[in-house]
Amino acid sequence: MKGIVLAGGSGTRLYPLTMVTSKQLLPVYDKPMIYYPLSTLMLAGIKDIMIISTPQDIERFRDLLEDGSRFGISLTYKVQEEPNGLAEAFILGEEFIGQDSCAMILGDNIFYGGGFTSILRDAVKNAEEKDCATVFGYYVPDPERFGVVTIDDEGRAVKIVEKPKEPESNYAVTGLYFYPSGVAAKAKTVEYSERGELEITSLNQMYLDEKKLLVRIFGRGFAWIDTGTMDSLIDASDFVRIIEKRQGIMIASLEEIAYINGWIDKDRLLKAAESYGKSPYGEHLRTVAQGRIRYEGNQS
Ligand code: DAU
Repeated sequence: MKGIVLAGGSGTRLYPLTMVTSKQLLPVYDKPMIYYPLSTLMLAGIKDIMIISTPQDIERFRDLLEDGSRFGISLTYKVQEEPNGLAEAFILGEEFIGQDSCAMILGDNIFYGGGFTSILRDAVKNAEEKDCATVFGYYVPDPERFGVVTIDDEGRAVKIVEKPKEPESNYAVTGLYFYPSGVAAKAKTVEYSERGELEITSLNQMYLDEKKLLVRIFGRGFAWIDTGTMDSLIDASDFVRIIEKRQGIMIASLEEIAYINGWIDKDRLLKAAESYGKSPYGEHLRTVAQGRIRYEGNQS
C-alpha cells in the first residue's frame, strides 16, 4: 500500500502564524506537526509515502524529511498548485499510486490511542484483500464542522455529507482514509462541489454507493485532534506533553517506529539521534537504542 500526507492548503485561519511557514510545520509540543500523520502511516506499515504541499512550502518539507531513509521509508514530494480539494491528492498521486491501494492522511490530523496499530493494519487488509475503503468516525459535539457519517443499527454507513447544516449524526469523518486499488481513476470522476472543491466526501460516497465503504468508530478515550484552529493547536501540544511526561514515552517518534518495525538498525538509529543534537527528541532516540524503553502493550 502507498501513502499520501496532504499538507497544503492556505492556512489563513492561523494567520499570522502561517504567513511565512506551512501550518503542518508548526510545532506540536516537541516536534513538527507533520511527524504525527507520518507516524500514523508508518504504524500502518506503509513505507512508500508522497507528501503533497504548496509550491512555496514543498521544499521546506524536503529539507526537514529528506528522502525518508533515516526513517527507513521512501518519501517523494509533489506540489498542489491550488487548494482544489482533498480528492485532488489522488489525481496528483496517480503515477505514484500506480495499481496499488492507497491511504491518505491530512497533515494536520493527530491520532493517538490504544489498539491504533491493529485498527490501521485492519484497514490496510480491507483495502488489499476485500477491495473495500475504510474511513473512521469520531463522536463530536459540533459535527457541522466536518464530513458527517450516519450509521445504521448494524454499524454500516448509510449516508455521508460534507459539513451539513443539520447533521443527522454526531459522527465526524476523520482525516484518515484507506482505499483499494483504482482510487485515482475514481477521484478523476469527482466533480467540483458548490464551494468549488473536489471533495473527499464525494469520493467516499462512490464507495458507499458500491457498498465498499467500511466505517470504523474510534471509541471513548481515543484522541483525534485536527489542529485547524489556534486552540486545537495548543490542545494538541498539551495532550502530547501530558502523555509523554506521564508515561515517559514519545508520541510520533519516527525513527523509533522505524526501529521497532525493523526498517532501520541500531547504527542508523544512533546516527539519526546524533542529527537531533541535544534535544529531548535526540535523547529519546538514544534511550531507545540503549534498550531502555520497555515495550508492553500498544505503542501507537
Ligand atoms: O479533519 C477532518 C475533515 O477534513 C473531514 O471531516 C472533512 O470531511 C474534510 O473535508 C476535511 O474538512 P476541513 O474543513 O478540515 O478541510 P480543510 O479545507 O480545512 O482541509 C484540511 C487540510 O487539508 C488542511 O490542513 C489544508 C489541507 N488541504 C486542503 C485542501 C482543500 C490541502 O492540502 N489541499 C487542499 O486542496
